[in-house]
Amino acid sequence: RQRHPIVALDGPAGAGKSTVTRRVAAALGLLYLDTGAMYRAVTWLMLDQGLDLADEPGVAEVLSQSEIRLEPGTLDPAAPWDLPPVRVWVNGQEVTAAIRTPEVTARVSRIAAQAAVRSALVQQQRRYGKTGGIVAEGRDIGTTVFPDAEVKIFLTASIQERARRRQQDLINQGQGTVDLGQLEAEIGERDRQDSSRSVSPLIKAPDALELLTDGLTIEAVTDRIVALYRDRVADLTP
Ligand code: CDP
Ligand code: CDP
Repeated sequence: RQRHPIVALDGPAGAGKSTVTRRVAAALGLLYLDTGAMYRAVTWLMLDQGLDLADEPGVAEVLSQSEIRLEPGTLDPAAPWDLPPVRVWVNGQEVTAAIRTPEVTARVSRIAAQAAVRSALVQQQRRYGKTGGIVAEGRDIGTTVFPDAEVKIFLTASIQERARRRQQDLINQGQGTVDLGQLEAEIGERDRQDSSRSVSPLIKAPDALELLTDGLTIEAVTDRIVALYRDRVADLTP
């Protein structure tokens, strides 16, 4: 083969993609690619520039003159089972925290629906994956970015479970308690926008394994994917 294996992980918000992908990458010694962070970075940039997000040519123009850079966290010997989240820079400015605000989260799906934005980011993602050896997570990895990935997972959980996880995340981050019904509505709206857009909607690739994670621990999900990778890659090696 021309490159090392690729693992593609897709699914809706709160399915556990980031958490599990970082652990799978740590366990297998693969590079971790968080494509959601790239769509968030573009959204942050357009808000920062005061652009009308519906102005697609304007968005494409600003994006074409900008640089989005990801720096995946490296393995910490004190916690070798996990990788830190990616750090993100836009035009030299670090936006690692700024891309996770509710303002960005509420608007990112509108930016992610734009064809010009997707083609620019997909091109960059494929460059990161050129030699393989990566775990990439997002919405269209198995369908569009790396359709020939050796391992494809579609990670899901019920919307109630995903809202509960988000609520717990917010509590842990000291942001107080947000009403579960409100979180369900926000996540549901993002699911709807991501699944119904015309360019690379969120769908399970036909050859992806669907993993419903309600009631499963992070460790259980990680082990399952690591085992699948080992089986699959052993099969490929003569
Ligand atoms: O972590 P969370 O599930 O909240 O979202 P994320 O993975 O950071 O992705 C944020 C948004 O970016 C998603 O809701 C999608 O609108 C968009 N996205 C996408 O369209 N395609 C991807 N490959 C990754 C993210
Ligand atoms: O990236 P995505 O939006 O798919 O989800 P995430 O940010 O990785 O996970 C959302 C939250 O759910 C995190 O706090 C995880 O620790 C938690 N989680 C869980 O409780 N059980 C799992 N099996 C997976 C994730």
